[in-house]
Amino acid sequence: MLRALGPDLAAEVAWPVTDPPIPDGDLADVFNGSVDVHKWAHYLPIYESALAPFRSRPIRMLEIGVFHGGSLTMWRRYLHPDSVIVGIDIDPATAQFDDPASGIHVRVGGQQDVDFLREVVDEFGPFDVILDDGSHRSSHMIDTFRYLFPNALADGGIYLVEDIHANYWTGWRDTATTFADFTRWLTDAMHAHYQSSDSESDFRVGDPGRKLAFKVPFATTVIEKIDVYDSVTVVHRADGRRQLPRSIYK
Ligand SMILES: C[S@@+](CC[C@H](N)C(=O)[O-])C[C@H]1O[C@@H](n2cnc3c(N)ncnc32)[C@H](O)[C@@H]1O
Repeated sequence: MLRALGPDLAAEVAWPVTDPPIPDGDLADVFNGSVDVHKWAHYLPIYESALAPFRSRPIRMLEIGVFHGGSLTMWRRYLHPDSVIVGIDIDPATAQFDDPASGIHVRVGGQQDVDFLREVVDEFGPFDVILDDGSHRSSHMIDTFRYLFPNALADGGIYLVEDIHANYWTGWRDTATTFADFTRWLTDAMHAHYQSSDSESDFRVGDPGRKLAFKVPFATTVIEKIDVYDSVTVVHRADGRRQLPRSIYK
């Protein structure tokens, strides 16, 4: 990594601990009034900005990883009151947080079990927001994304993966490929149409050589944007199919 950064960016500097206050915002207010919820402080403004477009209408949200149920209650209080909040967890004890009367549903199973995920999607999906805060094993994070993003996320929805730092810790990294590596592949997939082209004129309006169609992976047509933060990645699904970019020369 250091060699790739070049000498200026790779130069070692001291980074002392400072503890800023919990960030402001509606989600931070809800968080501060919650119990049994486990989030890193810097995630709150990330979630606030990612979820802002989803608060004015009822949505369906799936969170992988229920733990003590506090985050499900937090989303319940933060999102539109008619939203459906679904949590899944491998620990049978989390079934106690199933509370359909409050719009909170919990199902017990492993995030790596596609048959289980399919049942959850059939019962409650498609989801506008999916948040992976489950096992944090690299294989699970990648396999769960591979199934849920194409099969369970609504058009215009967002898929958030948290605690990506765990992939840098040997106890959680069970594959050579981390979720950060996988994010790089998603980035390449977003650009697949350029890989079957050799010049900008293939995309230029009015150019006789303009290509009218490209063969690309499905991912290319539905990944609109990827936001990468410290330990959180947000992948935005296009609202329908992305439109092929065009180059305009005036
Ligand atoms: C970090 S905690 C979730 C915290 C909760 N979302 C919160 O914000 O308070 C992780 C949860 O993932 C669950 N988990 C671990 N492995 C899992 C798996 N393979 N599939 C689903 N859930 C799993 C654990 O039982 C645990 O409750």
